Amino acid sequence: MSKFEGRIAVITGGAKGIGESIVRKFYDEGAKIAIIDVDAAGAQQLALELDPSGNKVIGLGCNIVNRPEVKAAFEAIAAKFGTVDILVNNAGITRDAIFHKMTEKQWDDVIAVNGKGLFNCTQEAWMIMKAQKYGKICNLSSTNASGEAGQANYAFTKAGIIAVTKSLAKEGGRHNINVNCVRPGVIDTEMMRAVPENVLEDLVNKTAFKRMGTPSEVADTVAYLCSEEASWVTGEELLVAGGFMYR
Ligand SMILES: NC(=O)c1ccc[n+]([C@@H]2O[C@H](COP(=O)([O-])OP(=O)(O)OC[C@H]3O[C@@H](n4cnc5c(N)ncnc54)[C@H](O)[C@@H]3O)[C@@H](O)[C@H]2O)c1
Repeated sequence: MSKFEGRIAVITGGAKGIGESIVRKFYDEGAKIAIIDVDAAGAQQLALELDPSGNKVIGLGCNIVNRPEVKAAFEAIAAKFGTVDILVNNAGITRDAIFHKMTEKQWDDVIAVNGKGLFNCTQEAWMIMKAQKYGKICNLSSTNASGEAGQANYAFTKAGIIAVTKSLAKEGGRHNINVNCVRPGVIDTEMMRAVPENVLEDLVNKTAFKRMGTPSEVADTVAYLCSEEASWVTGEELLVAGGFMYR
């Protein structure tokens, strides 16, 4: 049997990049999926490509920072699929700047999407998971949760995501909810294309394999953490970074 047969998964930021790979992996493993993305057209296009019938995959336009939009999305998901078993908090942004040049807007925007957005989606899913006594949550942190020049705002949120993961894992056990996070590093997506070439070369050279990781390599790890194979794993932060760093 496939890993996620009969399961309903919500994947934020699923229109492209790592999120898109997670959507494809979960679909291949039998899940019914709701893609939530501020890029409504991208989410709907991917849903249509995978499942033209619209019975197994839906794409919903939603800015996760906006609670009424998130509430409406979860209502639409409940109406379509009946429940939520898995939440992957993947949507995230960078607004890099060296600290003395960082604007208040750059700071606030990153905290809004990576922090408030995760809170909004998780609380909506949590109510459902708690009531049904089953849930798997996987959050996307980063190697840069340990700090990176030009990313004080991003590192702040990604370190916070590790702390939220561990806190919710403690709360979730009694409701049969597993909460884990992955810490990807140097993954070949549009986000990395914003990094200057010389900096990217340096990052690649710091990996053990001297290459960028692929979004599907992250998706495989996320799928493991959301599966029954990881039923005794909770509050964990798993580096998916090709030896870029160790814990
Ligand atoms: N690429 C990497 O090397 C890397 C490394 C570590 C962690 N990550 C994390 O992985 C996750 C995915 O990164 P990626 O590289 O695929 O990024 P990406 O920029 O390629 O894709 C991000 C997706 O999130 C969506 N999104 C952005 N803001 C949103 C909002 N307010 N509401 C709903 N959707 C929104 C975008 O439309 C897009 O589809 C992020 O959380 C990122 O921090 C990436």
